[in-house]
Amino acid sequence: MNSRITKSVFLKRKEENVPITVITAYDYAMAKIIDRCGMDAILIGDSLGNVVLGYDSTLPVTMEDMIHHTKAVCRAAKRAMIITDLPFMSYETSIADGVRNAGRLLKEGGAQAVKIEGGEEIVPVVKAIVSAGIPVMGHLGLTPQSVHQLGGFKVQGKDEQTAQKLINDAKMLEEAGMFSIVLECVPSKLADKVSKSLKIPTIGIGAGNGCDGQVIVINDILGMDADFTPKLAKKYVDLNKIISEAVTSYMTEVVARTFPGEENSFKMSDDVLEKLY
Ligand code: KIV
Repeated sequence: MNSRITKSVFLKRKEENVPITVITAYDYAMAKIIDRCGMDAILIGDSLGNVVLGYDSTLPVTMEDMIHHTKAVCRAAKRAMIITDLPFMSYETSIADGVRNAGRLLKEGGAQAVKIEGGEEIVPVVKAIVSAGIPVMGHLGLTPQSVHQLGGFKVQGKDEQTAQKLINDAKMLEEAGMFSIVLECVPSKLADKVSKSLKIPTIGIGAGNGCDGQVIVINDILGMDADFTPKLAKKYVDLNKIISEAVTSYMTEVVARTFPGEENSFKMSDDVLEKLY
């Protein structure tokens, strides 16, 4: 087995200009496939709330949800770095809450790093988590936990003021000790500028090709949702169609009594059968 990807690999990849590959997973089966593909990192994102739990935002996701799904991913992934999101209200209430909850994601969940949304305002809690020995990844741009403050799921940093704030925030987060920062839904040219101004790698999602790596929500590239693929994702396969066809075939065969066939059934001797009453 190859050794575990660590934050030093992330930094080395940036120095050597080799893109870092990150994808979300939320369960054992998917994490096992992803890990075998050789992805650098698996993110147990709080997108869990949308794509697995069926909420319309990430806000209802709890620490217990994140720990439960992190444990499942960790049972499968032996090589990829495992990063888990700190969910809404797990770090905003106090520095102590932030450190305690980040610690839980490693201690109980088994993750190797945590991800946290926000800029300058989270610097104190980031410093405290890093001081506790926990690698921290940032998340700037469209930060879904602030959807109500942002006024919807919109591209961020299009005007001078918000673009400059994003650059300043990124520098402050690097200074605070983060090992990497996700840039979500920001113009490609701004993401390029941020990436060039940092020593730590940026991981883009809807942030163009100039980031030091890319992250994506796995359900979006697999085409799991028949009605929606976000602009920032490419549908590599239409699993919704494939799964629907498979389930319909199964249903049809059950009704027609053609499944299970002989090959899916178990035998016993007629002698035993004859003795039964
Ligand atoms: O929750 C998540 O999946 C994320 C990615 C979109 C970066 O934060």
